[in-house]
Amino acid sequence: MKQETNPFPKTKLQWLWENMKGCRGIYFVGMAGTVVYNILQLTVPYFSGKIVDLFLTGENARENLSTHRDLFYQLILAMVLFTLLRCVIVYGVCMIYEHVSQTVLYRVRNYLYDKIQRQDMTFYSTYRTGDLMTRLTGDLDAIRHMVAWIIRMVIESFSLFAAAAIFFLYTNWKMALCLLVIAPFVFWIIYLFRNKVAPMHALLREKLSQMNTCAQENISGNRVVKAFAREDYEIEKFDKANRDFCETNKATAMVWLKFFPYVETIANLMPLVMLGVGGVFLIKGQLTMGEYVAFSGLIWAIANPMRQMGNIMNEFQRFSAASRKVMELYYSEPKIKDHEDAKEHPDRFDGKIEFKNVSFQYEDGDLPVLHNISFTVNPGETVAIMGETGCGKTSLINLIPRFYEPTEGKVLIDGTPVENLRLHDLRRHIGLATQDVLLYSDTIEGNIAYGDGSIKINDVVKFARYSSASDFIAKMPEGYDTIVGERGVGLSGGQKQRISLARALAIRPSILILDDTTSAVDMETEKQIQHSLKELDFPCTKVIIAQRISTTRDADRIVVLRDGYIEESGTHEELLAKKGYYYELVKLQTGLDEL
Ligand code: GTP
Ligand code: MG
Repeated sequence: MKQETNPFPKTKLQWLWENMKGCRGIYFVGMAGTVVYNILQLTVPYFSGKIVDLFLTGENARENLSTHRDLFYQLILAMVLFTLLRCVIVYGVCMIYEHVSQTVLYRVRNYLYDKIQRQDMTFYSTYRTGDLMTRLTGDLDAIRHMVAWIIRMVIESFSLFAAAAIFFLYTNWKMALCLLVIAPFVFWIIYLFRNKVAPMHALLREKLSQMNTCAQENISGNRVVKAFAREDYEIEKFDKANRDFCETNKATAMVWLKFFPYVETIANLMPLVMLGVGGVFLIKGQLTMGEYVAFSGLIWAIANPMRQMGNIMNEFQRFSAASRKVMELYYSEPKIKDHEDAKEHPDRFDGKIEFKNVSFQYEDGDLPVLHNISFTVNPGETVAIMGETGCGKTSLINLIPRFYEPTEGKVLIDGTPVENLRLHDLRRHIGLATQDVLLYSDTIEGNIAYGDGSIKINDVVKFARYSSASDFIAKMPEGYDTIVGERGVGLSGGQKQRISLARALAIRPSILILDDTTSAVDMETEKQIQHSLKELDFPCTKVIIAQRISTTRDADRIVVLRDGYIEESGTHEELLAKKGYYYELVKLQTGLDEL
């Protein structure tokens, strides 16, 4: 089979080992304990063999029983004590495996969450939410299972096998070899099984992710489903994903079922060899009855690890497929991150924004969406961006907080290119109300105060007033303590927009960016908002995307985009005089009498 190349800096086991930092010592104790308690399993058959030889079937059995009765009791006591000791060790070992596996799980999960938080926009458009959730839950659990169970089983099986093999060889090497000659066949079968089952596990992880993505998209998009009465279609879609996952699970189990009869047959040959060859040795006097009893009592210690190996290999391949998914996230690096020499800028910006010959194309897009854009907004000014849908307005403003990077040209704030600023400092001073409003399932107060947890309720109310949200909030049953559902369920589109505006204002940004934020509010309310935005009690440069002339007419500059180019720019009056796109727009929206 073709070996896959490892795309990560470490192998899966090295990576796991790295994440066991701090508990490696205790894990070793656990592994050593596993070896010890498995070796202790041999004590029972060993002592029973001794008892049989000395007191039951040996030549001097009757005599030994009367003269060495104390030895008889001692052997029985030793058996009991070793069994008790074994129990104690097993208990301790279980605790250790559980502790270490949970510690690794906790650490990796936190690390991944941290990683996901710091990814750029391209990452979020590449990975689906359901897929990320699967990696953080199901796939991670397969890694915990590796630490808590698979490694333990490997050690258990091998130590048991090795201890039994050594004991057999030591007791009677001829008999031992007759039994052990079977083992290589099992190893070979397990190797063939591994090659067949590995791709199945990779497929299984994919199917699980698809099923979870289907459920997640359906639940978060339930309103659309209801609006189009597509419940049956969605149920069917999930049923298909569920069935796919189920069938792949069954197919994976079937792979083992194909190999299982061979392993089982070979393992079951052992008692036959024991009966046949052992019987002959016994008759010939090459094996004592006690040795025969010890061999019979321990034959499982050779056979069971062989049977277990299929299971272990299966679980190992599950780990391998899951860890690949997890490591992909673990080693993913955002393209947009702080440069090493990024400037610290804890203070407010003056708010000068410059676009210098900026062109931009999405990584996954075929054509540039912005071409050679240049304009400047001075501190405290308001610039309005207009243009028909899809012309690149959102793409343009996304370059200011560096959600994306221009393919050519530069975006500067206060004369510094944005890529030379620390992302945290840059974004902390930019208040953004996005086109798709996303609120958290929290109180209205919590949502407004999201960007600044230390903000007082008086200020929350003030910013709600600025965004003309205070009236409708006051009418809600619990006012600012009203909990809004996931994504703001329970609020109207315009109400959500106003809360999102209050949230953007609440950080007292040096630069305020509004992406169609008042599109769903009525003209009267919008007028009030316009007025409040002029009266803010902190200096602020505003970039406002809007379609309505009433929103843009008072801006210091209006930039009109068309197919990613600046079509025209200037003040309301200047653009009217040009009689271009803007002029036509005004004519359309206000009627000819305005002109
Ligand atoms: P409206 O919000 O509808 O008024 O449009 P807009 O002017 O804000 O357009 P936007 O900047 O969102 O999109 C400009 C172009 O970029 C459109 O042709 C989109 O199809 C494209 N686009 C937007 N987002 C992405 C993205 O994430 N990937 C790719 N490949 N293309 C995108
Ligand atoms: Mg847009």
